[in-house]
Amino acid sequence: MTKSRIAAVDVGNDALKANFGRMENELYIPNVIAQDMEDRPVIGIEELDEKEVLDNIHIRVHSPALEENNSVYRVGNLATKTNNSTELDPGSSKSEEDQTLVMLFASLALDAVSNGVFKASKDDVIDANYTLGTGLPLREVKEGKDVGYRSQLLGSVHQVEFLVTPQHQGKKVNIKFDEVKVYPEGFAAYVNLIMDNDLKVINKELIDKQILIQDIGGLSTDIAVIRNRNVDDDKAQGFNLGVSESLEEIREEIRSKHGVELDSRRDVVDIITRKNDRHHIMVKGSRTNVHDITDHILLELAKKEYRFLRNVWAKNSQSEICYFVGGGSAVLKDYIKALNNKLDGYNIEFFEDENESIWMMANAYYKLVTDFVRKSGVNDESKEEDKKTAKAK
Ligand SMILES: Nc1ncnc2c1ncn2[C@@H]1O[C@H](COP(=O)(O)OP(=O)(O)OP(=O)(O)O)[C@@H](O)[C@H]1O
Ligand SMILES: [Mg+2]
Repeated sequence: MTKSRIAAVDVGNDALKANFGRMENELYIPNVIAQDMEDRPVIGIEELDEKEVLDNIHIRVHSPALEENNSVYRVGNLATKTNNSTELDPGSSKSEEDQTLVMLFASLALDAVSNGVFKASKDDVIDANYTLGTGLPLREVKEGKDVGYRSQLLGSVHQVEFLVTPQHQGKKVNIKFDEVKVYPEGFAAYVNLIMDNDLKVINKELIDKQILIQDIGGLSTDIAVIRNRNVDDDKAQGFNLGVSESLEEIREEIRSKHGVELDSRRDVVDIITRKNDRHHIMVKGSRTNVHDITDHILLELAKKEYRFLRNVWAKNSQSEICYFVGGGSAVLKDYIKALNNKLDGYNIEFFEDENESIWMMANAYYKLVTDFVRKSGVNDESKEEDKKTAKAK
């Protein structure tokens, strides 16, 4: 029986978050890709070390699931340095974009070449089998798009070939899925809130309450209504608004006001979230405060997000609490709390640790898919690892 490795992957519009094998094994890649039209010269690649693998993801992807098969892509940080990089736009459907698949396959291939679980053949081909847990926004699941998404993943072998990537140049990974579970994002957040890694209920008071979960992502905001331990599909609402547009606006205003061109939305996130020197940029060598710009744009967004909350709460008046998750919640926390104090005073809660907000989905998929594997008897490779360590003791 072939070994199957657990993969929990949240292909967020802003960034891919994944757990492979174990929950501690994390991968984070900005969701940016750039299609290569010509060959990228192989200069100095030998000098790049392991750390630089993530900054140099350069791959060719073969998969019948792709609209455009056999294309070459730069992925993540490497893509942000080109002038034809694409970040997803609001209104697009995750389940129907090549970009989603390219990101997913790239992450799995990176895991496959670095985890040591799958052995390479003489000609550097690695056969990698995964049991995948992933998710789609509620809106897409409501439209039934999860079905096609799942079957195109299950239906064929997907190959990633590493091109100009240090350590892995020339390696080919054949990805096969033994099982694919597609969960609605809001439900996953709920699971993460109430259950520990063994899916034991850790939050008893919460389990039978009607709760709301507002997930503010890069391009979308999803508000899930949880009732009777389930997502109430009819009540859940998705909005095509996340923080990306505001990040774009901040970038634009910094450009027009200070003449400084930031590379990507990522740079803006850094400016508004970093621990030191937050809200400052360098302008011609002088440290310059841009708080006026970031403040008014983020406040505008917080107001819109607060309106979404009001709207959903009005239709679900018996809700007891709303949890704010997603990276956007981390960015807007202070603004939304201030608005709530001044206005309706809803019972709302944020996570102290912004990483918890950001990793919520991936960790939930991990819990759900591990539980599935335990119950279904898939030959999970990590079980063998556990046996080995048990023996060694
Ligand atoms: N470490 C961080 N601290 C604070 N905010 C962050 C951090 N990382 C990301 N963000 C912000 O959160 C936003 C959304 O991130 P998140 O990972 O939740 O989105 P996503 O899941 O990729 O998008 P979507 O849910 O729309 O698919 C980012 O655009 C960024 O502004
Ligand atoms: Mg998200």
